Amino acid sequence: SALSQQLKDLESFQVIAHRGASGHAPESSMAALELAHAWGADYLELDIQMTSDGELVAFHDDTLERTSNGEGHINDHTLAELKDLDAGSWFNDAHPELADSAFEGAHILTLEEVFNRFGTDARYYLETKSPDLNPGVEEGLVRRLEAYDMIETGRVLIQSFDQESLLKIHELNPDIPLIQLVWYSPGDEDPERREEWTGVTPGPERITDEDFQAVADYAVGLGTNAYYEGEAMIDEGFVRQAQQNDLAVHVYTINDPEEMQQLIDWGVNGLFTDYPDRLIELTE
Ligand code: G3P
Ligand code: CA
Repeated sequence: SALSQQLKDLESFQVIAHRGASGHAPESSMAALELAHAWGADYLELDIQMTSDGELVAFHDDTLERTSNGEGHINDHTLAELKDLDAGSWFNDAHPELADSAFEGAHILTLEEVFNRFGTDARYYLETKSPDLNPGVEEGLVRRLEAYDMIETGRVLIQSFDQESLLKIHELNPDIPLIQLVWYSPGDEDPERREEWTGVTPGPERITDEDFQAVADYAVGLGTNAYYEGEAMIDEGFVRQAQQNDLAVHVYTINDPEEMQQLIDWGVNGLFTDYPDRLIELTE
């Protein structure tokens, strides 16, 4: 089936366009998705949040200020309110050398708009972002994936840092392949960063087969950082060990070609990048 082909494909290398080609156009905008799609990225990555009237939208931050002219929490707003915002001009201000008047007034996209545009002609790597702030996002997401026939056709992966959110999705539809996101920094003694570790990331010690197996119970892969402040946090042994425990290894968010090459050499199964063009060039 298409779904089993998708799982097989995860063994080979996947180019994951982080918020679209967000190094070139406003993140999560149609322009960023169009570029990534045209360049042939394997997956379009988007963070999914819920509006106050229950619509699903693609937006990374919990608050509107950084990437739009709105204010406050995204989930305190109706879709109609969000549709009035300009989610593109900030990019022109932040990156004058990449500015394009076409980006002005870019709209925050609903998941349906993305599916209506690319349909089953693309693959989607969707994150339940801040599920505590978006209660019901899992049900809403699974319902829409089913309605758009994205599961059996092998078009979607769902990722989250929140293990509970992934387990909810697994219960709603056990056929959806899941990716557990982790922040990995072995030896890290900083108590604040320890707080941030997700339930499946072991304390400061090295990750064990049991840790990997606990994730492999419900997920097909791990999405992990590889570097922290320029220092490598994982190595080839980590990648092999995860793969031996039936987990694909995807690394976020890699924009530097030297880091891309190192991770490819370690045998990772894919990279999240703001520059899918760079990664495609490297892997061709
Ligand atoms: O989803 C992988 C990576 O995107 C996680 O970090 O903050 O960019 O969503 P973030
Ligand atoms: Ca993400």
